[in-house]
Amino acid sequence: MTKSKNKLFYGDNLEVLKRHIKDETVDLCYIDPPFNSKRNYNQIYNAIGEEDKAQAQAFVDTWEWNHQAEIDLRSIYEGQGFAQQTIYLIQGLEKVLRKGALLSYLVSMTLRINEIWRVLKPTGSFYLHCDPTASHYLKLVCDSIFCGGGRGGEYINELIWHYQTGGASKRWYSKKHDTILFYGKSKDYPFYPERVKIERTEKSIKRAQNPHGARIASDNQEKLPHSVFEIQALNPMSSERLGYPTQKPLALLERIVQASSNEGDVVLDAYCGCGTTVTASQKLNRQWIGIDITYQSVSLILKRLADTYGEEVINTEHLTLSGVPKDLAGAKALAKKADDRLRKEFEKWLILTYSNNRAIINEKKGGDGGIDGISRFPKGQGEHGSVIFSVKSDKIVNPSYVRDLAGTVLKENADMGILLCLNEPSKGVKQTASEYGMWTHTWNNQDYPKILVVSVEEVIQHDLRLDKSLAGVVLKQAVKDDTSKQVSLFDAAELEVES
Ligand SMILES: C[S@@+](CC[C@H](N)C(=O)[O-])C[C@H]1O[C@@H](n2cnc3c(N)ncnc32)[C@H](O)[C@@H]1O
Repeated sequence: MTKSKNKLFYGDNLEVLKRHIKDETVDLCYIDPPFNSKRNYNQIYNAIGEEDKAQAQAFVDTWEWNHQAEIDLRSIYEGQGFAQQTIYLIQGLEKVLRKGALLSYLVSMTLRINEIWRVLKPTGSFYLHCDPTASHYLKLVCDSIFCGGGRGGEYINELIWHYQTGGASKRWYSKKHDTILFYGKSKDYPFYPERVKIERTEKSIKRAQNPHGARIASDNQEKLPHSVFEIQALNPMSSERLGYPTQKPLALLERIVQASSNEGDVVLDAYCGCGTTVTASQKLNRQWIGIDITYQSVSLILKRLADTYGEEVINTEHLTLSGVPKDLAGAKALAKKADDRLRKEFEKWLILTYSNNRAIINEKKGGDGGIDGISRFPKGQGEHGSVIFSVKSDKIVNPSYVRDLAGTVLKENADMGILLCLNEPSKGVKQTASEYGMWTHTWNNQDYPKILVVSVEEVIQHDLRLDKSLAGVVLKQAVKDDTSKQVSLFDAAELEVES
């Protein structure tokens, strides 16, 4: 069986790297892990000041010292696959930082970066995109992993991505850059700066002219890139913007992919978000592996690739999609996941799959008022209608869920409610739903039930999907790329399904 070339994994990158990515198979890895860093670091390991408590909460919400952090710490101390320097470093950090949010974050990153080091080829390159408030800690971690224990790696550059967006401050110098740490697994890393030359400024062109105006140098308007990347961040009006809050500009990833890999090479992004690295890799004819823990990312990447390069790039011939439930057992396993990071993942997966990635997920924590998602659609004459989704993963689906949903539909003045259930609903449930009657869509004059009950089985086994006229476009469509020579890269390959 031939393996398809590109791979998109839905899951925790640590598990995916360990289970699915072989040693020394990746040429280039870029990661942009999430980090809530709107705050001052001193306060993370000292007492948190009153005025900063709210911001600190955001960090603590994501990173806290918990049972998982303890297990992760132990696994580093037990030493399997770690350089001795990494173990000493974490021991030292434990003394300085103590067991709190920051150590939890660094331990989690250490495990993952060590796995990335394992999967990189001996000539592999690694780019770690981080916030300046975390970069000094992460540099220690990377130094120990890449260069510790005679591993022979190389710290190559600290890159500054300088942008103009964001506000100005009177309390500090306005923050206008991110840090990207660049490492080689060995000194033999490939690097092609001539492919990503940058434009010379008028001033430097003038400097290269003699006093009579003739050029001293060749009339080359470009120069080799330096360590400060002047690339515009995506502003709210940018046509590239997809609505994913941490989306990075394609130009940034194109520069990295071109400078540090060749056509056909394997590029990995283990925190791939809305897929900027995979989109750049697709455009530049690299093979790619993307991993993300949220289904919204996976769904958005599939849509982004299809919108940009055409549906064929996401078909099973060219893409292996792993970790997404393919049957009832897979859906049940997802619904059962107790991990707090995967909160509502089952609901998200079911709503996005059923709506062909066109519904909006209700991200509200705590009481969601019975609304897990919503889809808006045009009704004509500038008006919009809405469908409310409610997801139930209980063993027994009872008619009271239908009545609750009907109440929410009425309260929200929505046109329709759809109850999506993990388990097959009884006849009584469907009967109760039918008692709410039908409504007529003014756009196509078609009748739809006011309350519809749909099971996972119908979605997975029978490909039941939301009617197209009940869905609008949620996230902006990616701009179609007509320039790339995509597809030529692919061989015909058989379907490979993993779950
Ligand atoms: C800052 S965003 C990356 C944005 C990306 N560079 C882009 O341009 O779209 C970080 C991503 O990492 C994902 N993530 C967080 N923890 C993860 C984990 N343990 N495994 C895989 N993905 C994870 C989040 O879901 C989020 O989509």
